[in-house]
Amino acid sequence: MKGKVTMISFLELTLELSRASDMVSPELNNHHRLVAYITYNLGEELNLNEKQQNHLSVAAILHDIGGLSMQERLDVLKFDALNPHKHAKIGWMLLKDYKEFSKEAKIIKFHHVDWNNGNGLKKDGEDVPLESHLIHLADRIATLISKDDKPFNQAERIYGRIEEASGKRFNPEFVKAFERLKEKEYFWFDLESISCSSNYYKKLSFNDQLIDIDALIGIGKLFARVIDFRSNFTAVHSEGVAAVARQLAQFSDCDEMTCKKILAAGYVHDIGKLSVPTEILEKPGKLTEDEFSVVKGHSYQTYVLLDHVKGLEEINIYASMHHERLDGTGYPFKLKGEDLPLGSRIMAVADIFTALTENRPYRKGMQKEAVIEILEEMADDNKIDKKIVAILIDHYQEVTRTRIKKQTKARKRYKDFELALEEDDQMEIQRGKTHGIN
Ligand SMILES: [Fe+2]
Ligand SMILES: [Fe+2]
Ligand SMILES: [Fe+2]
Repeated sequence: MKGKVTMISFLELTLELSRASDMVSPELNNHHRLVAYITYNLGEELNLNEKQQNHLSVAAILHDIGGLSMQERLDVLKFDALNPHKHAKIGWMLLKDYKEFSKEAKIIKFHHVDWNNGNGLKKDGEDVPLESHLIHLADRIATLISKDDKPFNQAERIYGRIEEASGKRFNPEFVKAFERLKEKEYFWFDLESISCSSNYYKKLSFNDQLIDIDALIGIGKLFARVIDFRSNFTAVHSEGVAAVARQLAQFSDCDEMTCKKILAAGYVHDIGKLSVPTEILEKPGKLTEDEFSVVKGHSYQTYVLLDHVKGLEEINIYASMHHERLDGTGYPFKLKGEDLPLGSRIMAVADIFTALTENRPYRKGMQKEAVIEILEEMADDNKIDKKIVAILIDHYQEVTRTRIKKQTKARKRYKDFELALEEDDQMEIQRGKTHGIN
């Protein structure tokens, strides 16, 4: 199996991550894209340069990525959202370690800070980038657009609400830019068809960068965190699957590029889970039929999302077919053995193995004998690839060691993450007490 070197569009990738997180509820109505589009146009009014526009667009496209549950995402859609800083902080924590996103992480961290007559240039002793204030304005404009009428008819009402808060919540200079922008009809017409508006996308693509497989793996790792950290149950799952899949690929004599693609595929194989509300992922007890179909749709959604990114074709096949079975009884495409390349077969085995062996908060991972029994039975029933199962059994200790090492590291990160948030909650409570809100 030979893997070709392909370059991937950074922008397309980022857009798909944000699309995935907006799929969790139809209410969100492409919120990330909408805010990115408004931000971009405000930036044009303010004559920002290409570089500034670029960072702003990526930050806007991802600004609510830290809203991990559906409820959190819906809560901040309200114009006067309560405690909006938590999802902003989570967004920052998710992104800050990735050099590709370091600037964006900072912008996102403060995207709900009020202008407060210029005092909003600092928060808790830290500098707040002006870009955060611009996204803050764009975000609030987006939340004022009602779905009941055409955006064009709402221009004056929305401007009125924004203008009222000029100086208090929003930078007056930015509100002035919005005053000019609101006069341009195309802006409102574009908002109506934002999901298919190619205008904005074309403009942005000029500044797009192409990334190679190693950068893709780095971003894939970030995606894995966004996917996994939504639930304590699955907090380290993708990290485990990716590591196991890569090792199985090596033991199957795949060339280096294919091993890398399989690793990247492992990180993103469950990206479609972003469309499943955490409320369903963590539901104790039995799922209703509707809920079950949402969960079952996740690998299909992975396929659709990755399909939008040119250059990911091969990785998509490895990632999205992880619930297909050789005898055609898997989902969602009902593919059979001859349609499933080695990378997809490896992913299926890696996914099952990781799910069986990893510790979950409510149970310990299974022991070797029981795991081997299940895998061999599935191989005998022609569900999964016999050869790959044999390779896994031959290298059981080594694969297990790798899985544990990677997952322990990921679990530690997740714990740090939880801790920081708890501290943040405590601080909010303290702040509430000193301000007499509690
Ligand atoms: Fe937000
Ligand atoms: Fe938002
Ligand atoms: Fe899955």
